[in-house]
Amino acid sequence: MTQDELKQAVARAARDYVADHIPAGAIIGVGTGSTANFFIDELAAIKSRLEGAVASSEATRQRLEKYGIPVFDLNDVSEMPVYVDGADEINDKLEMIKGGGGALTREKIVAAVATTFVCVCDQSKLVRTLGKFPLPVEVIPMARSQVARALTKLGGQPRLRQGFVTDNGNVIIDVHGLSIGNAVALETELNQIAGVVCNGLFARQGADVLLLAAAEGVKTLT
Ligand code: 5RP
Repeated sequence: MTQDELKQAVARAARDYVADHIPAGAIIGVGTGSTANFFIDELAAIKSRLEGAVASSEATRQRLEKYGIPVFDLNDVSEMPVYVDGADEINDKLEMIKGGGGALTREKIVAAVATTFVCVCDQSKLVRTLGKFPLPVEVIPMARSQVARALTKLGGQPRLRQGFVTDNGNVIIDVHGLSIGNAVALETELNQIAGVVCNGLFARQGADVLLLAAAEGVKTLT
């Protein structure tokens, strides 16, 4: 199976998860990226069961609206049973690196409101140790040099993502060369650097359920 076929398979499994576990009339959170896009395509088939969705990016908002799925402002939503999103890497504790698509800040905010984070991945994303995928860090533009120096002191090799501005008007620094032993500690430490808006470690609040697509089928890990 190609990687896109695996992503489609896991998107269908996530649609079934929503149909089976989420009460009718719920508002759900929807992530960003190519796997999330396949999920939105599948979600269209069960949209009548939902009141709507909260989008984690402008791209996701546009795709949901294209299917006629109502998109809610997060400030108007106090309960969300599920948030469905992909990841760039995930380990067996269901800690993740996210932000390859640059939407990490809104993703973390929407996920924080949801009761259950369902991560949808193909098997290439499951790793023993996080950090081979460069860790995205969203940074206020005036702070990029100071944040880059702080990231170097932590042992990483920071690289500014060229020509990219987040939905929040900030820049992304991708940190290469990290081997992340304690993801919770690093997530917390990165949040203390002045000028960092958010980092792509989702460890303090990781995924609750992993739907993992392999050639043999989609496995559910919790
Ligand atoms: C976007 C993300 C995505 O979930 C992550 O990059 C995975 O993307 P894809 O499903 O395209 O592999 O965090 O900010």
